[in-house]
Amino acid sequence: MIELDSVTKNNVKVLETINSVCLPTTQFSAQFYKDSPAIGDLAQFAYFNQICVGAVRCKKDSSHKQPKLQINSLCVLPAYHNQGVGSKLLEHALEQASNISAKEMYVYINKDDQEAIGWFMHKGFTSQPPKNGNEDVMFVSKQLK
Ligand SMILES: CC(C)(COP(=O)(O)OP(=O)(O)OC[C@H]1O[C@@H](n2cnc3c(N)ncnc32)[C@H](O)[C@@H]1OP(=O)(O)O)[C@@H](O)C(=O)NCCC(=O)NCCS
Repeated sequence: MIELDSVTKNNVKVLETINSVCLPTTQFSAQFYKDSPAIGDLAQFAYFNQICVGAVRCKKDSSHKQPKLQINSLCVLPAYHNQGVGSKLLEHALEQASNISAKEMYVYINKDDQEAIGWFMHKGFTSQPPKNGNEDVMFVSKQLK
């Protein structure tokens, strides 16, 4: 059974641990984690049979005419891949996008992480090099209704 629950001041170190295990480089600042308990449903843990095995952390991007939702991180511990946990976290992120009437959802993924890029493409995202010229990442996005 997969359930979602909040990120709090008491468990935010678990978010940091999951991200550091699942992502190739340490990408996020101390402030990123400090802010996470205050953003409500934009950050959630996933529990598989009551064990915390994954997390999603999103951000509302208001720098465009229409709001967008950025996924900062969506990670599942390797031992728990392919059990539907990532899909549940993505579903939750899509709900958050709908709550803010976002017309696009996007995530930057290290270009070497073909597995994650493939996973997002399987979920209906498209992938392209970012316009800012950073050659190490891909801009992976989905238009929303
Ligand atoms: C990407 C990630 C979150 C997926 O999590 P997960 O829990 O294994 O995903 P799920 O079990 O929900 O996915 C299952 C579905 O994806 C499909 N799938 C799994 N791996 C895939 C791949 N590499 N390419 C395409 N499809 C894939 C399965 O066939 C299944 O399809 P279905 O829903 O149509 O039956 C996980 O691999 C991960 O944490 N990766 C490292 C962190 C990362 O790079 N995150 C993204 C950038 S922040």
